[in-house]
Amino acid sequence: MKYNFDEVISRENTASIKWDVVAEDNGVKALPYWIADLDFKAPIEVIEALKERIEHGIFGYTAYSETLIPTVKNWISKRYDWNIEDEWISYTPGIVSAILYAIECFTKAGDSILVQTPVYPPFLQVPTDNNRKIIENNMILNNGKYEIDFKDFEEKAKNAKLFLLSNPHNPSGRVFTKEELEKLGNICVKNNILIIADEIHSDIIYKGYKHTPIASLSEEIKNITIACYSASKTFSLAGLATSIIVIPNKEIRDKFNEYLNVRHISVNVLGKVALEAAYQYGEDYLFELMNYLESNRDFLIDYMNRYTPKIKPIKAEGTYLIWLDCRELNLNDEELKKFFKKAGVELNSGYTFGDAGKGFMRFNIGCPRETLVKGLERIKSAYN
Ligand SMILES: Cc1ncc(COP(=O)(O)O)c(C=O)c1O
Repeated sequence: MKYNFDEVISRENTASIKWDVVAEDNGVKALPYWIADLDFKAPIEVIEALKERIEHGIFGYTAYSETLIPTVKNWISKRYDWNIEDEWISYTPGIVSAILYAIECFTKAGDSILVQTPVYPPFLQVPTDNNRKIIENNMILNNGKYEIDFKDFEEKAKNAKLFLLSNPHNPSGRVFTKEELEKLGNICVKNNILIIADEIHSDIIYKGYKHTPIASLSEEIKNITIACYSASKTFSLAGLATSIIVIPNKEIRDKFNEYLNVRHISVNVLGKVALEAAYQYGEDYLFELMNYLESNRDFLIDYMNRYTPKIKPIKAEGTYLIWLDCRELNLNDEELKKFFKKAGVELNSGYTFGDAGKGFMRFNIGCPRETLVKGLERIKSAYN
């Protein structure tokens, strides 16, 4: 092992949202397993590249370097079997902001946006905060696995302007299959719906699964898709606010880039250095990270099955987010939230992922095993 994911590094007092913005109960701070970032150091190669850039000492206005393009293309080709062209690539300071830009660019107030619920809360908030309507295609939980209700999706697609896809899916942890994505994509083609494919978790894939970019499946699907990638989830870089937007269709791309240009959205000088180093040197790190996360995932599932059997973790195929089915506890939204707060852990409440998330909680396992065990022990005590 080259990387030590067992190392516990304090993130307190670093203005970390995860660690420093958590609730206190009677003066005791909860241990955080909520917002989706890692408690691991970025790869040493990324830290070295950042140090070198920092040593230069001048951090003026910056452009995205040409060298970034082959690095990004190589990562997407090697890891997801999708060959993209240089000019398809743009950058934004984050994927949620890219989602907002695309919604503003390609829909108008009152238009409807299709999402697969339960879903990452900004998929619901960004459209509604900007006067768009949400159409929810609820996924079906069948024997511990979420499945797509295609019939409902097809029906609802008739009224939608845009489909916001999370693949891998946050919070269910599903890594959608080629067949599922083909079906979704073809329904969008048939109904003339633009797809925003948020593939931010596309590197966090467990053994036995493979990430497929929806845009790679056919010419028709490619031509209606805006695909979003980032090194942020994988390499502990979320605070550097840099993401990659891939738009094969020239008309859509020109409109999106024009939107970015007129808004003078600036470039994070360190974000682009970190992204390039991560995609250039990050494969060993990712390999070891996935082994570590997989053993955390399996440990949590085993622990909960054994000690808190009324809380049923959904086995994630991808992402470091474990969706906990807490419906057997028979607690309402407020009571469920209170239960975990009293236990001394901060998780994400399921109801914020849409009505389909009621009775669920989301647990982030992207931490050293020692931290994971502490949280599970707290939950076990409260449960007992
Ligand atoms: C599906 C999904 N999209 C986007 C984001 C956030 O992306 P960014 O920080 O680039 O805005 C997250 C973070 O949890 C996520 O889970």
